[in-house]
Parts: sequence; structure tokens; C-alpha cells
Amino acid sequence: MEKKILVTGGSGFIGSNFIRHTLQIRPGFQIRNLDALTYAGNPLNLENLPVDHQARYGFIQGDICDARFLKNLFEQETFDGVIHFAAESHVDRSIHGPEAFIRTNVNGTFQLLEACLAMWKQNGSPSDFRFLHISTDEVYGSLGKEGYFTEKTPYDPSSPYSASKASSDHLVKAYHRTFGLPVVVTNCSNNYGPYQFPEKLIPLIILNIIEQKDLPVYGDGKNIRDWLYVIDHCEALVTVFLKGVIGETYNIGGGTELENIRIVHLLCELLDEKLGRSGKNSSKSLIRFVTDRPGHDRRYAIDASKIERELGWKARFVFSEAIARTIDWYMDHMDWVNSVRSGDYRKWIENNYGKRK
Ligand code: NAD
Ligand code: DAU
Repeated sequence: MEKKILVTGGSGFIGSNFIRHTLQIRPGFQIRNLDALTYAGNPLNLENLPVDHQARYGFIQGDICDARFLKNLFEQETFDGVIHFAAESHVDRSIHGPEAFIRTNVNGTFQLLEACLAMWKQNGSPSDFRFLHISTDEVYGSLGKEGYFTEKTPYDPSSPYSASKASSDHLVKAYHRTFGLPVVVTNCSNNYGPYQFPEKLIPLIILNIIEQKDLPVYGDGKNIRDWLYVIDHCEALVTVFLKGVIGETYNIGGGTELENIRIVHLLCELLDEKLGRSGKNSSKSLIRFVTDRPGHDRRYAIDASKIERELGWKARFVFSEAIARTIDWYMDHMDWVNSVRSGDYRKWIENNYGKRK
């Protein structure tokens, strides 16, 4: 199947994994990656693509908040679909500086919808066009000990990040109901894997263990997240893009619920084995319980039965294997790690953790 797709935010963590994986599994797909290259976007994430994949890939640097830029782009090129990852994505940063989240996640999504709607109408409103909006389970707020997020769970976001993602979800659905734009929305749980920026829990802890730095655990460490290997997420997105019903939402999750402290212990154990540390030198001695994140959601857990039943997708990676693979990736890619840890990154670590001790 031949398709020309615009991916936004393709130089970030999930977007770059999506582009690499989709070029491989869908030889008929051409992909253009529109990315502003913020601190989280890294051209290295898409370096060294195989030659036949390079021929089907193109990079466009630009900002989804820039209406004129989007209009020009869509006048010059036509797309069969738009897959929208671009966002400010880190909860702690949204607490330190919410404005960037409103700008990109709300206004950027709005500008992109406007431009897509104009292009779609201009092309005769094709029914096979898709606007796939990538969102998060955080829009549903926090669960207690029991229960799961379904597609019908009411929205109840806690952080400026999740509130901005909730706003963007509502806008996307409104553009379908009001203007008929063929949209599909996905809400996914916590991803892990290669190319994740080391501000997020798993890569931060892996690198701090390697470098024997403190391992900051927020609050009592008993908050629970539902972890999904990034390639499982990417496969779910291709499935929803091709088979999802217009106007519908699909929750995506791996069913691997773990307390944060359990993850940190596990990473210590796996890395200690590789690094030959034990006893007094065990990395667990680096664990520090620090001031909690304000508004910290206690538990996330996804009911993914709709996408499994209706579209036939199921997570296929087992956590114990995929986390080992992720650790190996970071150990083998210290050049990449060093390239993303710029002066700005060091400032962020100081800002976020300096005050938590
Ligand atoms: P990321 O922060 O790693 O990447 C975001 C990308 O968007 C970067 O390449 C950045 O340069 C780009 N970008 C930011 N602002 C832009 C703008 N104004 N114009 C164009 N590009 C811009 O994020 P991620 O973790 O890969 O998440 C991707 C998407 O998936 C986000 O929408 C996020 O809300 C959603 N999501 C993430 C997770 C997760 O666990 N990481 C889980 C569920 C959903
Ligand atoms: O649930 C999906 C969401 O997962 C995505 O929408 C977000 O874009 C993504 O960043 C992620 O959000 P979280 O806040 O859950 O991920 P983070 O890696 O920041 O934190 C995971 C858990 O670990 C959370 O309970 C906070 C805790 N934590 C995090 C950091 C960075 C710590 O205890 N210490 C830390 O230093």
C-alpha cells in the first residue's frame, strides 16, 4: 500500500522509533518528518537509516505553531495522512514552565488541525485521509488501587502537561464532529526503549547508575505506571492508522504495572550484574527518596481490550527482555547520551533536583 505520511515530532523519542520501524515494516510508506528540534528533538535519532529507507524519508524543520509555515508546506506537498507526535512531553518541566506546553500542545495542535482541514478540503475531502493524534493515559488522571482506564473514563488531568494533552484531544475530536476531518486518537501508557531523552525515569536511572550518581525517587516510590516497550506502541499506531475507525479513541498499554521503586531496584540489579558491583558497592545504596512531584498521579493502568479485540493488536514484548535490551542500548550508545546532555540539560537537572533534596 502506497502512502505519503507527514509525521510531526519525528525527531523525539517515540517519533524516531516510529519512523525507523515503519520504514522497515511498510515498504510502500514515504515519510516526511516535521520537527522544530527543541531540546527533545535530535537529528542523530534518525541518522544512519538504511539506504532504501533514506530514499523514502525526508526531514522538514519547522514549528507546528507557525500557521504560515504550515499553509506553505501543505500548498507544496500533499499527504495521505498526518501522524501527530509533536509535543512538550515531560511532566516535571510542565510544572516549572507550563507556557511552552500550552503553546505547542494546545495552540500547535490547533494550527496543525486548521492546516490539515484546509488541505483535506482542497483535495476533495478524501475519506481515506487520517489525522492520527498521539495522546497519553495521563488525561484520565489517577487511579486508586483498583480499576483500569477505558476509552470511556472521564478526563481528569492533574498536571499542566496532561491538561494540555487533554485540551488537544478535545480539539482533535471537535474537528471531526464539527468539520468531518477523519481523525483517530490514541491514549498510551508509559513507553521505554532506545532514544528516550534522559530526563525520564528509566534512562535517567540507567545513566545515574552507570555514573554512580544519586538515584532520585519521588515521594515513597510507590506510584505505579503501566510500562510498554516503544516498538509495541509504534506497531499499535500503524494498526490504528490503517484500521482504526474514524472518530474513535483507542487506549494502548502493555499490562506491566510496576511501582517506581521496583523499577529502580530492578535496574540496579541488572546493571550491577553487568558492572560487577555487589555488597557495599551495590547501586541500591545510591537510591535517594526526594520531595514528591506536586500533583503526582498515584497509579496508571490501561484497559487495552478495545484495540486488541477490534483491531487485533497486542503487546508482544516481555518487560524483562525489553528492559534488558534497553539497558544494553544505552550502554552501547554513550556517544548519543553525551550529545543530548548539553549545558541546557545540566541546567534542567540542577533546577529540578537541586530543590528536591
Ligand atoms: P519527546 O519529548 O521525546 O519528543 C517530542 C518531539 O516533538 C521532539 O522531537 C521535539 O523537537 C518536537 N516538538 C516539540 N515542540 C514542537 C513544535 N512546536 N513543532 C514541531 N515539533 C516540536 O516526546 P515523546 O516521549 O516521543 O512523545 C511523543 C508524543 O507521544 C507526545 O505527544 C506525548 O504526549 C505522547 N506520549 C508519550 C508517552 C511516553 O511515555 N513518552 C506516552 C504516551 C503518549
Ligand atoms: O503515562 C504516559 C506518560 O508517561 C507520557 O504521557 C509522558 O510524556 C511521559 O513523560 C510519561 O510521564 P511520567 O510522568 O509517568 O514519566 P516520568 O518518566 O517522568 O516518571 C515516571 C514515574 O517516575 C513517575 O511516577 C515519576 C517518577 N520519577 C520520575 C523521575 C524523572 C521519579 O521518581 N524520579 C525521577 O527522577
